[in-house]
Amino acid sequence: MKIFGIPIFPEQASVFAKDVDALYFFILAVCSFFALAVAVSVIYFGIRYHKTHDGEIGARIEGNLPLELLWSVIPTVIAMVMFGWGASVFYHLRRPPDDAMHIYAVGKQWMWKFQHLEGQREINELHIPAGRPITITISSEDVLHSLYFPAFRTKMDAIPGRYTELWFEAQTPGTYHIFCTEYCGTNHAGMIGNVIVLEPSEYQAWLQGGGVQGTLVERGARLFNSLQCDTCHVDTGQGRGPSLRDIFGTTVNLQDGSTAVVDEAYLRESILNSQAKIVNGFKPLMPTFQGLISEENLIALIEHVKSMSPKAATAAPAAPPASAGASASAGSSRIGPARSSAASVCSARPPA
Ligand code: CUA
Repeated sequence: MKIFGIPIFPEQASVFAKDVDALYFFILAVCSFFALAVAVSVIYFGIRYHKTHDGEIGARIEGNLPLELLWSVIPTVIAMVMFGWGASVFYHLRRPPDDAMHIYAVGKQWMWKFQHLEGQREINELHIPAGRPITITISSEDVLHSLYFPAFRTKMDAIPGRYTELWFEAQTPGTYHIFCTEYCGTNHAGMIGNVIVLEPSEYQAWLQGGGVQGTLVERGARLFNSLQCDTCHVDTGQGRGPSLRDIFGTTVNLQDGSTAVVDEAYLRESILNSQAKIVNGFKPLMPTFQGLISEENLIALIEHVKSMSPKAATAAPAAPPASAGASASAGSSRIGPARSSAASVCSARPPA
């Protein structure tokens, strides 16, 4: 929406953009109406009933039941309409469809890094197909950030040490803004990018384009070996660590008698802070990987573990044929090249 050529409002480019806007304009209209009514009344009464001579005493008013009911019931009804409407939009925004395509995002001072399951990595650019729901799992490498797609009317904080999630379905191919909406340091305002919505066929072509070194799951499997996870976590369950086969989505019994659901957050904690939750029947032998493994490699490892539970985990799409040549991060960076963290972690060995 433009007024005098100045963009006032972002385009409506996702399936729920219209719903969010309708609610927004409804609340704006109600608030404007009452703000105006109150302001006009204040001015009118101020003039109409101002003091004209000394010793004047105002009339004593005892109350008025119909009026009091009116100004209780009307605001209640309006507030409940806002609540009900807002809750239904919120539910829609917070619950990704089961068939959503999965992408990871990592916020970092001052760039957005995206990882596709197929292996593509991008910085400050995100290529997605139109007409397909997309879930983005978000984490942060350093401080609080917030991933915002104004045209899709959705945003979510990137919180260090935690996974958050948002979803959307872009409708119209085009290029739209990505912003960081949490003040995160000097170059916060420069932490921007573009989401490029492609026709599904163009997206398939894009996937085939950049030479990637295997899918996310394959990268995770390589890390699993190089970090020597496989020496303890053997499939038979006879290793020093629990078998990871088919555990994703299950509930495990812990040493302290409690239980835990194996999800991304659990796997993350078990890798970084391995002593936090010890599976019943095992000794706390695993070293902590805090500081030894980057957010991006953590994502790859978690995807690998998920792939060992084919029933529970969302199946990773088939890998496009890898072609040598162009680098994995085909997307250009406005801020600077990504620091390659894979190499440093692969050579890192857990402390004995
Ligand atoms: Cu990242 Cu502001």
